[in-house]
Amino acid sequence: TELFGLKQTKRLVFLEDGYVRMFLRGRPVTMHVPDQQRGSFSLDQKVALPDKKLKLQWVYGYRGRDCRSNLYLLPTGEIVYFNASVVVLYNTEEQQQRHYLGHNDDVKCLSVHPDMVTIATGQVAGNSKDGKLLAPHVRVWDSVSLNTLHVIGMGVFDRAVTCVSFSKSNGGTFLCAVDDANDHILSVWNWQKEKQLADVKCSNESVLAAMFHPMDTNLIVTCGKSNINFWTMDGSTLTKRQGLFEKHEKPKYVLCVAFAENGDAITGDSSGNIYVWAKGGNRISQVVSGAHEGGIFSICVLKDGTMVSGGGKDRKVVLWDHNYRKQAEMEVGEALGPVRALAEGKPGELFIGTTKNAIIQAAFPDTLTPIVQGHTDELWGLDVHPSMEQFVTCSQDKQVHLWDIDSHQPLWSKTIEDPGRSAGFHPSGAVVAVGTMTGRWLVLDTDSRDLVSVHTDGNEIISNVKYSPDGNFLAVASHDNFVYIYAVTENGRKYSRVGKCVGHSSFVTHLDWSADSQFLVTNSGDYEILFWEAGSGKHVTNMDTVRNLEWATYTCTLSFSTFGIWPDGADGTDINAVCRSHDGSLLASADDFGKVHLFSFPCSQPRAPSHEYGGHSSHVTNVAFLHNNSHLISNGGKDTSILQWVVA
Ligand SMILES: *[C@@H]1O[C@H](CO)[C@@H](O)[C@H](O)[C@H]1NC(C)=O
Ligand SMILES: *[C@@H]1O[C@H](CO)[C@@H](O)[C@H](O)[C@H]1NC(C)=O
Ligand SMILES: *[C@@H]1O[C@H](CO)[C@@H](O)[C@H](O)[C@H]1NC(C)=O
Repeated sequence: TELFGLKQTKRLVFLEDGYVRMFLRGRPVTMHVPDQQRGSFSLDQKVALPDKKLKLQWVYGYRGRDCRSNLYLLPTGEIVYFNASVVVLYNTEEQQQRHYLGHNDDVKCLSVHPDMVTIATGQVAGNSKDGKLLAPHVRVWDSVSLNTLHVIGMGVFDRAVTCVSFSKSNGGTFLCAVDDANDHILSVWNWQKEKQLADVKCSNESVLAAMFHPMDTNLIVTCGKSNINFWTMDGSTLTKRQGLFEKHEKPKYVLCVAFAENGDAITGDSSGNIYVWAKGGNRISQVVSGAHEGGIFSICVLKDGTMVSGGGKDRKVVLWDHNYRKQAEMEVGEALGPVRALAEGKPGELFIGTTKNAIIQAAFPDTLTPIVQGHTDELWGLDVHPSMEQFVTCSQDKQVHLWDIDSHQPLWSKTIEDPGRSAGFHPSGAVVAVGTMTGRWLVLDTDSRDLVSVHTDGNEIISNVKYSPDGNFLAVASHDNFVYIYAVTENGRKYSRVGKCVGHSSFVTHLDWSADSQFLVTNSGDYEILFWEAGSGKHVTNMDTVRNLEWATYTCTLSFSTFGIWPDGADGTDINAVCRSHDGSLLASADDFGKVHLFSFPCSQPRAPSHEYGGHSSHVTNVAFLHNNSHLISNGGKDTSILQWVVA
């Protein structure tokens, strides 16, 4: 009983007669040692790091929902943008991505140096696994070599760097940044010397953009809630002149700023007006009223001096000539969402980032090809196709996507009625089951995406939908503490309930089938491990029946084969998912600190060594190896990004 008095989060592991007992949050978890290992097993055996590693190959996602000015084309032919803590360099012609992985939490802003090679990216404050604060900062790096050149503002920024911009006219020597703290401090840096030159309280309201004037190194324009300010830097002081709206409509927000060839500043605002501010002044010299219906989120001046603007409500991209006369317009479809960012591509070509986190390759009059798409709300559901280079994801955004890992595009997407939570392919690959947040689960035809079947069990989250390896059963695990078992016929088209597993005293978190399709094992929210007879749902209490079973999958975070994933101090909710490679040699885990880990399998030693990988910026909710173990897929929960890793 003394054990229960110890610090709540200490993990303790003991080997008793034929079982391992691990304490999580003071609760004992009992895991039985298979007979074969009973004589030889000890908790002190050394285990090796896995001989394979992961390399990030693809990021499915773009952060357009709440970030601005974050999409550019580089001379290498790559577009640059970010998702979670990864900065992505995507060559759309060669279908290749490279990644800058220097950040350890969400990237919020990006600027390209006038040399078109050096990049600055700013990130938020984060928390490390051991509770340490990760300071917000700006990283300046080389987009060809991906080497970090400078790290700026560590310990100076307070909350998150939300705007960053290189100066233009003095060879890009200066960098300005805005911190998302209460006073929204605007600071100017000599980035090569990592030295702050000036700082000033910018506004007590949100600041949405900060840009150096292209011709005047000492002039910075900031804009945000009901303001636009022109700052003059003189030594270490920054002096403000407010933009004067005079007789013109004062917008609730000035949303974006760009500069014309002649040095005029051009702003887009929440009322849909474009104002031109004559070079060097703080007065409006020209007005395009009603340029968009609703807010203007982005303005991009093109190399030939014409301009495009993007609408947040009307979803339009409008092309304007040198005199601000409308030349052409096109509309982004509702599914892809309002325009967030615009970047000039090759001649005649544009890239459009949207607030629904898509990137579109576009050309007037009406070419709009999505090249990046993804989920837009919390993401958990993931399964890999049993024999093809495909995987399925479903999220709270009610979208189900079937992805092709080579083209990196959805083969299809389907909107369902409820927020999605879990997914599982039938072993034939013919159908895929999807569990939702409401107790409803459905079955979709993998080819046609047609709805094959819909059922409801309880009214809580369906945490798992998993077919038996022989394809004759489907187990549906719920947060109502039960597992529902269905007999499956006609290759996944007909379902009839044959059992209900009753016995857990908390929600069911994980579930695996035995290789012979006769038994199930489940984990629950209060760290129980229970075994069940598949045909009837009967609770199996005799451990001799199950301790030697081989499992078709190893996704239970609590089991004799996987308990080594738990770090010291784990509270039992720190690891959301595990998955064994199909060749039985590797175990991947998804943790609450944005990390994916790779262990050797079996993982039956306390604090087993692992390779650790960042990229996600929130809890990683799921991991899965592709059918032939060539790749691992990981899902970010709140960051809703999907990362594809090469296993080699
Ligand atoms: C990552 O990408 C997904 C898909 O485009 C998007 O929904 C999400 O908001 C992005 N998340 C972050 C934190 O960048
Ligand atoms: C910012 O300051 C103005 C005027 O001093 C005040 O009216 C407003 O409420 C403040 N806003 C915030 C977010 O503190
Ligand atoms: C996995 O399958 C793909 C295509 O089917 C193939 O290109 C790849 O080499 C395979 N990888 C391994 C590790 O077998």
